[in-house]
Amino acid sequence: MNTFSNLFLIFILLSQATSSLSKCHPEDKKILLQIKKELNNPTFLSSWEPHTDCCNFKWFGVSCSSLTNDRVTDLSISNVTLTSQFPPSIGNISYLRSLFIYHLPNLTGTIPESITKLTRLVYLTISETGVTGPIPKFTAQSKSLVNLDLSHNNLFGGLPPLLYKLPSLSGILFNNNKLTGSIPRSYGYFNNSGVAALDLSYNNLSGKLPISLANLDIYLVELAYNKLEGDASMLFGSNKKTLVIDISGNNFEFDFGKIELSKTITTLDVSHNKIYGNFPMGMENVTFLNVSYNRLCGEIPKVGYFNTFDGSSFIHNKCLCGSPLPSCK
Ligand SMILES: *[C@@H]1O[C@H](CO)[C@@H](O)[C@H](O)[C@H]1NC(C)=O
Ligand SMILES: *[C@@H]1O[C@H](CO)[C@@H](O)[C@H](O)[C@H]1NC(C)=O
Ligand SMILES: *[C@@H]1O[C@H](CO)[C@@H](O)[C@H](O)[C@H]1NC(C)=O
Ligand SMILES: *[C@@H]1O[C@H](CO)[C@@H](O)[C@H](O)[C@H]1NC(C)=O
Ligand SMILES: *[C@@H]1O[C@H](CO)[C@@H](O)[C@H](O)[C@H]1NC(C)=O
Ligand SMILES: *[C@@H]1O[C@H](CO)[C@@H](O)[C@H](O)[C@H]1NC(C)=O
Ligand SMILES: *[C@@H]1O[C@H](CO)[C@@H](O)[C@H](O)[C@H]1NC(C)=O
Repeated sequence: MNTFSNLFLIFILLSQATSSLSKCHPEDKKILLQIKKELNNPTFLSSWEPHTDCCNFKWFGVSCSSLTNDRVTDLSISNVTLTSQFPPSIGNISYLRSLFIYHLPNLTGTIPESITKLTRLVYLTISETGVTGPIPKFTAQSKSLVNLDLSHNNLFGGLPPLLYKLPSLSGILFNNNKLTGSIPRSYGYFNNSGVAALDLSYNNLSGKLPISLANLDIYLVELAYNKLEGDASMLFGSNKKTLVIDISGNNFEFDFGKIELSKTITTLDVSHNKIYGNFPMGMENVTFLNVSYNRLCGEIPKVGYFNTFDGSSFIHNKCLCGSPLPSCK
C-alpha cells in the first residue's frame, strides 16, 4: 500500500472510532436540535451542533447517563439571555430525570401538557420565568417526581387536585404565581411520610381551608399572602412534626389561644389576619414569631425566645401588652 492509502485507512479507522465513541442517541439529538430551533437558535446553544456528541458534556446544559444506555437524562438552562416561547418538544426527551429551567424572564407561553409524559422525571424546576397558563395535570404516572418547583412564574388557574396521588412527591413549590380558587380537599391526603414542604404563598387563592388539612403532617406549610379566610387551626396539632407555618397576609379568623403547637415548631408567622384570643401554650421552642396586625389581646408571655423578639412581631393588635410593647396596666 502506498502512503496515501495508509493515511486513508487510518482516517477511516479514526472516524469509526470517534463515531463509536459518539454516545448521543439519535432520537435525543433530533429532539434537542428541534428544541434549539424552538428556542430561536440562541447563541448560548451554539455548542448544540448536529455533528457532535450530545453526551460528552460539550453540549450546554445537557448530560446523559450510562445507566440508561446513554440517553439524555438532565437538561439545565438558567440565567442566560433568551427570548422565546416554552419549547413544546421538551416533553419528548423521554428519559429525562431532571429538568431545570431557571431565571429566564423572557421565556413565555404555557408549559405544554406533554411535560406530564416525562414519567421518569425526578426533579422539575421551572422558576423565575415568564411562563403563564395552568399547572399541567400530573397524574400518578409521574411516579418518580420528587420535587415540583413551579414558583415565581405567571401561572394562573386552580391547584391540580390529583397531585396527592403522586407517590414520590416531597416538595411542592407553587408560590409567587397567580393561582386562584380554593385549596382542594384532596390536599389533606398527601403522603405524610413523603411530602415535606407545601408552598402556595403569594398567589390569589381564596375561600376557607378544607377541614381535611387536619390530616396534613409535613415540615413546612406556607400559605402567606393569598385571600384565604376562616379557620386555619387545623394546620396545627400537638402530634404533628411541623417546623414552619406561615399563614400571614390572609383573612384568617380563629382563636389563637386554642391552637395546639407541635413540639418541633420553630417558625410561626400569622401576621396580617383577623386572629383573636391570647397566646397558646408550648411556644418555648419558637425562634421566629410574627403575630402583628391581628386582633390578639392580653399579656405577651416571657417564655423561650420571647425576649429576643422586638415590637414589630407584636404591633397592631387589639390589646396586647407587656415587653416589648408597653406594660399592661
Ligand atoms: C414529539 O412528540 C409528538 C407526539 O408525541 C410528535 O408529534 C412530535 O413530532 C415529536 N417531536 C419531535 C421533535 O420528535
Ligand atoms: C446570573 O447571572 C448574573 C450575571 O450574569 C450573575 O451575577 C448571577 O450570579 C447569576 N445567578 C445565578 C443564580 O446563576
Ligand atoms: C428580556 O427582553 C428585554 C426586552 O426585549 C431585554 O431588554 C432583556 O435584556 C431580556 N432579558 C433577558 C434576561 O433575556
Ligand atoms: C388577585 O386578584 C385581584 C383581583 O381579584 C387582582 O387585582 C390582583 O392583581 C391579583 N393578584 C395576583 C398576584 O394575581
Ligand atoms: C409514602 O412515602 C414513603 C416515604 O417516601 C414511601 O416509602 C411510601 O411508599 C409512600 N406511600 C405511598 C402510599 O405512596
Ligand atoms: C422543645 O424542644 C424540646 C427538645 O426538642 C422538647 O423536648 C420539648 O418538648 C419542646 N417544648 C415544647 C413546649 O414543645
Ligand atoms: C412582622 O410583620 C410585619 C407586617 O408584615 C412587619 O412589618 C414586621 O417587620 C414583621 N416583623 C418581623 C420580626 O418579622
